[in-house]
Amino acid sequence: MYVTIQHFRVLIYKSALKQLSLMKTSELPGFYKLPPEERLKIVKEFADLTEEEVEILKEGLLPLDQANRMIENVVGIMPLPIGIATNFRINGRDYLVPMAIEEPSVVAAASNAAKMARVKGGFFTESTQPVMIGQIQLVNVNDPKKACADIRAAKEEILKKANEQDPVLVKLGGGAVDLEAREIQTERGPMVVVHLLVDVRDAMGANVINTMSEAVAPLLEKITGGKVRLRIVSNLAIYRLARAKAVFAKEALGGEEVVEAILDAYAFAVSDIFRCVTHNKGIMNGVIAVALATANDTRALEAGAHAYAAMDGRYRPLSRWSKTSDGDLLGEVELPVAVGVVGGVTAVHPLAKICRKILGVKSARELGEVMAAVGLANNLAAMRALATEGIQRGHMKLHARNIAMMAGAEGELVDIVAERMVAERKIRVDRAKEILEELKKG
Ligand code: MEV
Repeated sequence: MYVTIQHFRVLIYKSALKQLSLMKTSELPGFYKLPPEERLKIVKEFADLTEEEVEILKEGLLPLDQANRMIENVVGIMPLPIGIATNFRINGRDYLVPMAIEEPSVVAAASNAAKMARVKGGFFTESTQPVMIGQIQLVNVNDPKKACADIRAAKEEILKKANEQDPVLVKLGGGAVDLEAREIQTERGPMVVVHLLVDVRDAMGANVINTMSEAVAPLLEKITGGKVRLRIVSNLAIYRLARAKAVFAKEALGGEEVVEAILDAYAFAVSDIFRCVTHNKGIMNGVIAVALATANDTRALEAGAHAYAAMDGRYRPLSRWSKTSDGDLLGEVELPVAVGVVGGVTAVHPLAKICRKILGVKSARELGEVMAAVGLANNLAAMRALATEGIQRGHMKLHARNIAMMAGAEGELVDIVAERMVAERKIRVDRAKEILEELKKG
């Protein structure tokens, strides 16, 4: 009897462990082959979603009256597919990454690269404090150099005025933390530009920055005798950076030749702006898809990333690739990430809230780091494909699956029909239907 109970307990324990590890691993072989309902079940388990959240995710609904409160003149909504990137391990933790995007292959590419990264432990990330910049422009300043010195001398008073605008943020450990003042030469004469540096904690921060920048403007006019014009956030968030790195084992990539080919692809991007912009676009494929899924401001991220890429006067890749002493490939990326997990639309959009729950991120910094890791994954996947077989084969495979489904293929037949069409290089609905008929007969 004792042995039986013990045995029973071990079985329960083992099954619980299995459940736990299954729930928390993002390594889900065959996930892409499942129908959406089955994938949803797995994601529900992983992220502990409620039935209601699953329904919202499935239907992709944003109520019209809510949309009507978000922007002006609303007449409808524009749904996008949300795909789940698998295999992501970041700083030792597994993530399922929701990506909202219209472009095929991006989710598959991220998942595939994340799988290759797992061999060497996945991605390792870090980030700076979430400090954003508010710009205040002053014109008609008689002595710009003296004005800059006077502004610096009045720093405490200016920061105090800024922080009075948001006591809650200050209580949370954020608020205006520093300022910078400099003279710029323009076609309309010299001007003074003040940068208010604000730790915005878990918000994207544009609202609080703009409020604070407007609030300190009269004080700056008094100090300098000049006239304030613009008071607005800068999307070049150089103090709010996320970094990710990963080592990709040469064996996982397909051998030494593939490592060399990827390094050639990277060298091309370093030396040629026409290639570099596409290289960076590949990184932003991942970053923006996660930003959209979490209802973050994609334009702010794009603008910030590309300006950061040109920070030293020359447009450069946001990532760096090199060979380790073992002959593996080391990838690193650094970019500004003005993203939030509280406030604004991120807090009210039902789908964004669910996507954030799936991601399981607790802070804006963590979200920014995940985005950097996904960007790096997409960059690696794109370079690897481009430098070897080209990306069209992968695209065609996905396209063929869609065509097969349009022709009525279900389950395993989707892949069988798709593979036949790719092999024949005839990816058309009529051909898919013919193949389906043949398979059903035979
Ligand atoms: C396509 O969306 C992205 C790529 O062009 C990126 C790249 O060329 O590195 C494949």
